[in-house]
Amino acid sequence: MDKENDLEKEAWKYLNKSVVHFQGKPVGTVASLETGDEALNYDQCFTRDFAVSAMAFLMKKESEIVKNFLIQTLKMQSFKKQMDCFSPGMGLMPASFAIEEKDGKEMLLPDFGERAIARVAPVDSGFWWLIILRAYVKATGDISFAHQENFQKGIRLIIELYLTVKFEMLPTLLVPDGSYMIDRRLAVYGHPIDVQSLFVAALKSARELLLPGDGYLPVINERLGHLVYHIRTYYWLNMERINQVYRFHVEEFGEDIENKFNIYPASIPEWLQPWMPYEGGYFAGNLGPGRMDFRYFAQGNLYAIIASLADKKQIRAIVDLIDAKKEDLIGEMPLKIAFPSLKGREWEILTGFDQKNISWSYHNGGNWPFLLWILTVACVKAGRGEIANEAVHKAEKRLSKDGWTEYYDGPYARYVGKESRGLQIWTIAGYLVAKYILRDPALISLVSFDEDDTVLSCSQRIENIYGKDFNV
Ligand code: GLC
Repeated sequence: MDKENDLEKEAWKYLNKSVVHFQGKPVGTVASLETGDEALNYDQCFTRDFAVSAMAFLMKKESEIVKNFLIQTLKMQSFKKQMDCFSPGMGLMPASFAIEEKDGKEMLLPDFGERAIARVAPVDSGFWWLIILRAYVKATGDISFAHQENFQKGIRLIIELYLTVKFEMLPTLLVPDGSYMIDRRLAVYGHPIDVQSLFVAALKSARELLLPGDGYLPVINERLGHLVYHIRTYYWLNMERINQVYRFHVEEFGEDIENKFNIYPASIPEWLQPWMPYEGGYFAGNLGPGRMDFRYFAQGNLYAIIASLADKKQIRAIVDLIDAKKEDLIGEMPLKIAFPSLKGREWEILTGFDQKNISWSYHNGGNWPFLLWILTVACVKAGRGEIANEAVHKAEKRLSKDGWTEYYDGPYARYVGKESRGLQIWTIAGYLVAKYILRDPALISLVSFDEDDTVLSCSQRIENIYGKDFNV
């Protein structure tokens, strides 16, 4: 077993420096240590960014900061039934929080998106909060922490928020553009795979954390069954499936039809046929009425492996695809967030001329080193740790030299991102988590979920009713 190297020591130095305190106790980490002068919020603690820090601290067996984060953010959760459209909905967890002083008193100031650029509300915060809570319980073995009344109430509020029926006829969650890691317009509205994978992981976390006999458990199981079946069946893309889509009939009405979402074959993009290997596959970026987004999104696909949203064959196929398309999907600095990028008129219309999201930059096909931790969990789970190992080695050559930058640009990620922050904390924490896991693969159990029978039996039941659409 190799020991902590100098790079890891440097990473820990910065991660420790990024810790923020409230009433003398560590409660979180800022997003970046290089916040600059502009009035941006990189000096705040983001829920999704802290999830990566939390994993690093838990793996180092420093759980105190994670515990305090969970206690304080729970207090910030929106708990009133709101009818006024400017207040966060009941159950929502903050996107980020700042610590400010007022009349000599320290205060925690949550942001639910009301101050964020473009006013985006975080759909993913509640999911990350549940994922962190479950990892904390797994790392410490202290389930009584989650069984406290206030935590049970918090979990139920999150479940209620996400499971309440609105205008949908699908098991997937309908989300606005920019409401998660990709927090700008990038045509990710609808039912993005990135969010659906987290939804599955969050529901499975809640199921483990609620007290036995809780009334929400059967509801969660039912939803999980439908959700998993729907995504495994209709989002899946491989050569065989693309062939089917290519030959789809359209405008079909009724129950027993093949093209349920009325996808027009002409919407299959030109890049897909030459790019798609015969071995391998992935979940489409989005699926909704008359729309299939064929782009590949890293977080959704990798988290689908982690959450066992993907079945065993699909897990293998996703990793095969990443391996076969290493240049595109890992590049010179892991890891591509979305592939391919939007260009030209498509970019103009779909991003609203967003200068930060130009082709192969930032969310629009940029590479994000923080994703290394998810890649590592997913590859180790799939029995292909060597892919993650190689990616981590590649990253090690540049991470410190490039100042632990937030993201990289270009089709192969040779440039440091145009507007990238330095000393970005989840870049640092993501690297550390990847190293911990490569040293001790058993650590993936903090975040990984096994294939489970409830979901399987529910999927089987649906399959028996509606028939199986295709083979993976
Ligand atoms: C950017 C990212 C977002 C992240 C934030 C802080 O806005 O898109 O996902 O949480 O920076 O790092």
